Amino acid sequence: MNLQLTEEQEMMQKMVRDFAQREVATAVKRMEEEDRFPRVLVQKMGELGLMGIPIPEKYGGSGFDFTSYIIAIHELARENAALGVILSVHTSVGTNPILYFGTEEQKQRYVPKLASGEFLGAFALTEPGAGSDAARLKTKAEKKGDNYFITGSKVFITNGGEADTYVVFARTSPEKGAKGVTAFIVEKDAKGLIVGKKERKMGLHGSNTVTLTFDQCEVPEENRLGEEGEGFKIAMANLDRGRIGIAAQALGITEAAVKHATDYAKERHQFGKPIARHQGVSFKLADMATQAEAARQLTYYAASLQSKGLPCGKEASMAKMYASKTARQAAIEAVQIFGGYGYTKDYPAERLFRDAKVTEIYEGTNEIQHKVISKHLLGI
Ligand code: CAA
Repeated sequence: MNLQLTEEQEMMQKMVRDFAQREVATAVKRMEEEDRFPRVLVQKMGELGLMGIPIPEKYGGSGFDFTSYIIAIHELARENAALGVILSVHTSVGTNPILYFGTEEQKQRYVPKLASGEFLGAFALTEPGAGSDAARLKTKAEKKGDNYFITGSKVFITNGGEADTYVVFARTSPEKGAKGVTAFIVEKDAKGLIVGKKERKMGLHGSNTVTLTFDQCEVPEENRLGEEGEGFKIAMANLDRGRIGIAAQALGITEAAVKHATDYAKERHQFGKPIARHQGVSFKLADMATQAEAARQLTYYAASLQSKGLPCGKEASMAKMYASKTARQAAIEAVQIFGGYGYTKDYPAERLFRDAKVTEIYEGTNEIQHKVISKHLLGI
């Protein structure tokens, strides 16, 4: 396994790192305070080609490999985790389902706009009563003539209040369980689509998370994605790729925690020397850095499999599970190293902790990742 970056991947890393340090780092304070979607930054990401990194040039994308896309999330999240998830959801589950499962006509109609950043993508699977148990979703889609009419509600929809297109999952067959779910591409101005309450979240300020209500929402048959009954597989297959993106986001948070805690430990003096010279602190930093490296290897390994078109469901879940747990632990330790200052909003550690927590929850809780990994191991 070669985890060295190629020349092209190094180019992507440098470009996104420059952008993140120049434009994103300076916007963090305002995003934290205002909790407003960073439209201007997302527009600039579109101009840099970041909104369509792994999308073929034929569909208006940048034509880079999947690992380059993971590099971009990693680099953005090191400065601001909200931008990491905006990009991850837009690409992995907002655009890729159309690219991988759409008809040629659907791809031509939507993918170039999503890849250029003209459109923002979102993914609507989760419901109030169907989170981890996604196959139990109740939102239904009834066919009348050439249209489907979708009724139900979706919750925790990332990018939801800002998106132009939604990949929506609804039940077309009440008795068939997972095989009764169908996917649709729903445009933001579809009749009967109502964007509801914006969540006030613990962290990831700037990332927009809303409830969606579908009230007999009218969707033309030509916007059905895949066949009737294929929706659950479409959701799962894209979540496999999506989970590598969340692992990269968590990795960015971890590395930020290590960096800030290390810098602070070198300059903060107690008992006549920098706290980094006390073993209680230096060993913590050693553990944090080691776990960050392990998370990096798992994440980039899963990405390299996906880049080669190889199966990566198990590795994606392992990367997501480990990297998110590491992010939470590293951020807690960073707060501890900063001491009282770590508990204030004047230093980055408390934001990293608040941002880290959700990576253990969304795109499948870590308990669900255990279930996926054990299923791969046991073959049951
Ligand atoms: N790829 C393709 N097909 C898959 C698959 C995959 N990775 N996983 C399962 N399937 C197929 C199965 O093969 C099966 O089909 P067959 O019967 O034809 O074989 C069908 O789907 C049902 O599979 P299971 O019986 O394994 O399904 P299950 O009901 O036990 O659920 C689960 C499996 C892994 C728990 C799944 O429900 C799950 O992933 N839950 C978590 C949901 C989730 O991640 N939600 C995230 C929301 S999006 C989000 O968070 C975005 C954001 O904002 C950041």
